[in-house]
Amino acid sequence: MKKQIALVKGDGIGPEVVNEGIKVLKTIEKYTDYSFEFKDAPMGGEVWKNCGESLPQTSLNIMAQSDTILFGAVGLPDIPQGVAEKAILKVRQDLDLYVNLRPVKLYPSLHDMCPLKPEIVENGIDIAVFRENTESVYAQIGGIVNQETAVNSMVYTRKGVSRIIEYAFEYVSRNKFDELISVDKANVLTVSQFWRQIYQSIGKKYPSIKQTSYYVDAFCQWLIRAPSSIHTVVTENMFGDIVSDEAAYLVGSLGMGASGNINPNGVSMYEPIHGSAPDIAGQGIANPIGTILSVKMMFEESFQDAYLGEMIDKSVEIALEKIRTIDIYSKYAQNNSQINRVNCTEMGDAVCIQIKSVLKK
Ligand code: IPM
Ligand code: MG
Repeated sequence: MKKQIALVKGDGIGPEVVNEGIKVLKTIEKYTDYSFEFKDAPMGGEVWKNCGESLPQTSLNIMAQSDTILFGAVGLPDIPQGVAEKAILKVRQDLDLYVNLRPVKLYPSLHDMCPLKPEIVENGIDIAVFRENTESVYAQIGGIVNQETAVNSMVYTRKGVSRIIEYAFEYVSRNKFDELISVDKANVLTVSQFWRQIYQSIGKKYPSIKQTSYYVDAFCQWLIRAPSSIHTVVTENMFGDIVSDEAAYLVGSLGMGASGNINPNGVSMYEPIHGSAPDIAGQGIANPIGTILSVKMMFEESFQDAYLGEMIDKSVEIALEKIRTIDIYSKYAQNNSQINRVNCTEMGDAVCIQIKSVLKK
């Protein structure tokens, strides 16, 4: 199976972590029928400094013509605010990446990293957040009305709301979860009442899936009170931005988080959630697991290959039993002679050794 993969290495630690993602893909290529062709699609702060654009049209074309996209991170401290963000938002809009899937999982060997009390998380954390990725305040409608007033509108369309909710219900049904939670603010916002009506109406097609609506403030509280009881959540763009960061930190480090910006009928983009982290760039100490788990999502969502997805996940889990990067090298790990600190490439190597040992058989 030939697949063309656009690479957006980007800024800061982006190139370092994407290199580990490529390493995983090349290991898989060696032992399976997959064959990958990589094409760089430069984007972000460095590109902006060189050519005045953070997303050149040539890069967008490469992305649009690929089978899938692996994205590192964009953003630098010495470029104006909004330059890198605009590039990300333009890719989401132009490629119509309307599903932002953000899974959060606490690996058994990383229980000490969870900031919550052990008794709260003894049943683990395994949550998938489905964030609408093209509308709401991200539609960028608004502006400065006069010197004293600024406005951003929350834009919801029936099409936009329906397709993310349908995608989430289908995912829940396909993967045999028993509930889909919807997060809104229907006690205050008209757009949320519109959202809730559509959620309830689509929900009628899925009578065996439990349906619960939370207000976003109450949900944020519930997320730290009883995270083990939450598994699948669908919400609008800005609530999803906030809720997914809160959820991601429950497993102790943003370095572990993966995401998929998905167009179910087109090209999708897989991205670690940690950002460019310029303060640690170039030191080789970044955690590549967020990127490696983004590659796992690429197999599951874009290549429809649940087996390899699961295999990458298992390989990460096994590697984490013995080694950790600095962001997850807790007091517990430092005091445990069985757990060693490693750098970015060593972590990638360890995951690839596991993958190889499974695929070689
Ligand atoms: C995210 C980020 C982006 C967002 C920014 C960088 C535009 O916070 O992917 O969650 O707000 O969506
Ligand atoms: Mg965010």
